[in-house]
Amino acid sequence: MKKYRTIFSAFHVIYRLITTSIDIKSFLIGIAKVYKNAFKADRVVLVYKNINSYPFIKVRLDENRQDIKKGGLSILTSREREILIQEEEIVFGNRLIYPFNFFDTLGAIYIRRRKQKETFTELEKKWFLSLCEEVSIGLKIFNLYREERKIIINYIKSLTRLLDQFVPTSSLHPKSALRLIRALGKEMKLSKTEISSLEYASLLHDAGKIQLPSKILKKQKPLTEKEFKVIMKHPKKGVELIKDLDILKPIIPIILHHHERFDGKGYPSRLKKGQIPLGSRILSIIDAFDAMYFGRPYKKKKSLREIEEELRKQMGKQFDPKVVTAFLKILRRKDIRKYLRRH
Ligand SMILES: [Fe+2]
Repeated sequence: MKKYRTIFSAFHVIYRLITTSIDIKSFLIGIAKVYKNAFKADRVVLVYKNINSYPFIKVRLDENRQDIKKGGLSILTSREREILIQEEEIVFGNRLIYPFNFFDTLGAIYIRRRKQKETFTELEKKWFLSLCEEVSIGLKIFNLYREERKIIINYIKSLTRLLDQFVPTSSLHPKSALRLIRALGKEMKLSKTEISSLEYASLLHDAGKIQLPSKILKKQKPLTEKEFKVIMKHPKKGVELIKDLDILKPIIPIILHHHERFDGKGYPSRLKKGQIPLGSRILSIIDAFDAMYFGRPYKKKKSLREIEEELRKQMGKQFDPKVVTAFLKILRRKDIRKYLRRH
């Protein structure tokens, strides 16, 4: 009975991994762990490659070791290469292999029990095959998701290129903004879809500026009240630009409210606290960070310490304290610091 429970929960966990994994790597690590536990395997090797772009990703779990590698063919041992070119599943004795070769995917999973006599039962072999079929579906979904994402990103890129020509210095640094959004999204336990929406919104949030007079946008001196009123129109203009694209509908509220303030003194709707979409509360911090870290023609760059101080000062005023706390946490991470130093 316990065995049945373990295997049912394995199916459930794989389904959950398909719907919630943010990237292919975390999906593969999760999958390998499920196999290891469900089949009491001493070794699991999972190799994956999208033939269009990804390098090989290899997840290897031994009794007390976890080894994850990304790279060319050289990361695979000769035995693992053999496994990879299997055309059909191999289910005998204490070893089970299943190839994931379809469309643009090349991959395989291999599980093993160390002792020869601990062979897999017929039932376990059946479970193994069904589980592998579910994983295949997951990998196909990942591919589709990746294709769809590529199309949207290209559309967004052309829009932002246009914006860059128009107002070269006002927009976010997309690479670092995306890196920070992903890290912050994970830290705040956002779903994959929420993180994607935030990524698109970060690239497009100021697109509405295309429709404003460039004289005002390029002005180096402080704006007059009248000019500022014109600038305040850009969130609404941005929404007009994307409102007919179904796929971008979820980001409309994020863009519309990215200049609201937590204390209700922002624009365009003077929303406050939880009334402001979470995405907008996050984006306003990413936006402010970018302006402080990289500087603007009218604003000097700030050090990370100065930025931290400023964000703390604005907790509960301009920014949501919860988002600031999570953001400061990721800002202290070594990998993020290293990334920022390089950009
Ligand atoms: Fe803006």
